[in-house]
Amino acid sequence: MRILITGGAGFLGSHLSDLLIGKGHEVVAMDNLITGRVENISHLMGNPKFSFIKYNICDYIHIDGKLDAILHFASPASPQDYLEMPIATLKVGALGTHKALGLAKAKGARLLLASTSEVYGDPLLNPQPESYWGNVNPIGARGVYDEAKRFAEAMTMAYHRYHGVDTRIVRIFNTYGPRMRPHDGRVVSNFVVQALQGKALTIFGDGNQTRSFCYVDDLVRGITELLLIDSDKSVAERTDRSSFLTKSDQPLKETMHDPVNIGNPRELTVKQIAELVLKLTESKSQIEHRPLPVDDPKVRRPDIRRAKEFLRWEPKVELEDGLRKTIEYFRQVI
Ligand SMILES: NC(=O)c1ccc[n+]([C@@H]2O[C@H](COP(=O)([O-])OP(=O)(O)OC[C@H]3O[C@@H](n4cnc5c(N)ncnc54)[C@H](O)[C@@H]3O)[C@@H](O)[C@H]2O)c1
Repeated sequence: MRILITGGAGFLGSHLSDLLIGKGHEVVAMDNLITGRVENISHLMGNPKFSFIKYNICDYIHIDGKLDAILHFASPASPQDYLEMPIATLKVGALGTHKALGLAKAKGARLLLASTSEVYGDPLLNPQPESYWGNVNPIGARGVYDEAKRFAEAMTMAYHRYHGVDTRIVRIFNTYGPRMRPHDGRVVSNFVVQALQGKALTIFGDGNQTRSFCYVDDLVRGITELLLIDSDKSVAERTDRSSFLTKSDQPLKETMHDPVNIGNPRELTVKQIAELVLKLTESKSQIEHRPLPVDDPKVRRPDIRRAKEFLRWEPKVELEDGLRKTIEYFRQVI
């Protein structure tokens, strides 16, 4: 397949490029580098299966030749980034998604949208299944990201229903791993960098809010499964339910065009994560508390029954193992 990845120089886009090229596909990465970095993809430069175009996808997108799929990943993604770039975040979610879908329609390409667990907002349900409509403050500071992604989902479903574009939507839960930016303000990168530098680990609020962290290798494996799943195959054909579903799991009736949560359901408090990072880095850093940001979700945990059923996917990397690899990466780059 020839695949366009918008946001291809970002944390997830670059890992997806590696995985897809490793499977023999050709990747065109398009990125305006507002939060991405050329270092993430420099090892792919010169590979005949990889090309990079520096471009803002909110403008009309043109790609020469055939295109089989688009992975639409362009968007600021860390709270620090989207709070600093609220308009660019709304624009890429709305205009960028429209342009990417238009290109998919013109090329007859499949489009996979990178959505987020933030569409659930500060959820009143835990864990969050895809059927949950969420609890988002549309005019809050975080609303620029949450609503941009909710709009992107609505636009994607409209292109599927009205124009017949073959679409997929993945709702990504917090993901971590090598190539995160040291100062992007996300929980894992913050804690690891602070611990390695001997600075206090900053916890916002009392630290009893929960998060679930998925290692990047698990995430990109799940996304690739969702991208490559055939529209014409029924779920039953792909699924040996008995090996994946527990007794309490109910079979699901939706199609692969409906959103799929991908994340790790192991839920920890932010305080527990800080303590684990301190243990694994053998750091003597203290923990410091700061005021909780507005609309910060109190709980976050994916219900991954649909991914299990549709994709036969579940995470494999233990948090401790993923954190060790991430710590090793940050030791080298900071
Ligand atoms: N990492 C996570 O935990 C996570 C969780 C949920 C959703 N996501 C989604 O996954 C996608 C990738 O996230 P990431 O963690 O790799 O973030 P990232 O910031 O590393 O990557 C996003 C990339 O998009 C590029 N970009 C932004 N606006 C653009 C535009 N207008 N034109 C072209 N390129 C543009 C940036 O330069 C960057 O390279 C995002 O859509 C994000 O919302 C990520």
